[in-house]
Amino acid sequence: MQRFTGRRVLITGGGSGIGRATVHRILAEGGLVVAADVNAEGLAGTAEQADAEGTAERLTTTVLDVSDEDAVRAGVAAAVQALGGLDVLVNAAGILRSSHTHETSLEFWNLLLRVNLTGTFLMTREALPALLATGSGVVVNFSSTSASFAHPYMAAYAATKGGIQSFTHAIAQEYSKQGLRAVCVAPGSIDSGMTNNPGLPADADFGLLAKLAPALGQGFAGPQTVAGVIAMLASEDGAFVTGTEIRIDGGTHM
Ligand SMILES: NC(=O)c1ccc[n+]([C@@H]2O[C@H](COP(=O)([O-])OP(=O)(O)OC[C@H]3O[C@@H](n4cnc5c(N)ncnc54)[C@H](O)[C@@H]3O)[C@@H](O)[C@H]2O)c1
Repeated sequence: MQRFTGRRVLITGGGSGIGRATVHRILAEGGLVVAADVNAEGLAGTAEQADAEGTAERLTTTVLDVSDEDAVRAGVAAAVQALGGLDVLVNAAGILRSSHTHETSLEFWNLLLRVNLTGTFLMTREALPALLATGSGVVVNFSSTSASFAHPYMAAYAATKGGIQSFTHAIAQEYSKQGLRAVCVAPGSIDSGMTNNPGLPADADFGLLAKLAPALGQGFAGPQTVAGVIAMLASEDGAFVTGTEIRIDGGTHM
């Protein structure tokens, strides 16, 4: 499939996990990609893989902290210029921290909000003029199954993901007449940097956490599982999908 030939795509969190898998999926389907991440080493790994796959000439990487307003303003402007416009924004950058809620500091809470929710807002705000100029722009945001279903020790993280869902619905409606589509993916149990190191409390109740096991298969799925759904949503195949979430969790929550 070559659904992204000539299409210009900006992907945050492109240095690891689902963001990186999405970079490679869109490149494999012919797209032009700017991959942004706060982690330069991660981006180097993404570029190395593109080299190996023969897609490096259509990839640009940029170190960018999505929670830094000035950096986002400059980074999005540079990406739009490098790509010659923007068709798709994928906001995959995010962090997970876990703790008992009664032990959660304000600093911890603010950090999660700043990176996950404010980062998604800043990137979207700066990208919107270029996306609207195309008449068919797409924003893919990252919610999580934790936005709608209980995840112990992740109340702050879940709150950021619920906020991202609400934000996505609002912009989908606000800009629908200008052809913009905005959708969320809501992954769960995907093998990534994040889930390999969730930072659970030492006394976490694994009986509660066991409820987060997927019904399908033997365990977690790879990040390319989510990348495939994102490619569908961001392409013409998703042309009538907007203002909603697609859950990708192997049936953990049915
Ligand atoms: N893995 C899962 O099961 C799962 C479930 C639900 C939601 N998600 C969401 O999927 C998205 C991708 O996560 P992942 O699982 O691939 O994890 P990951 O840790 O492998 O990737 C996240 C990437 O975001 C980058 N990042 C973090 N803070 C940033 C910042 N301030 N600016 C720019 N980049 C930053 C990291 O450097 C990393 O490369 C996240 O939004 C996450 O919340 C993942």
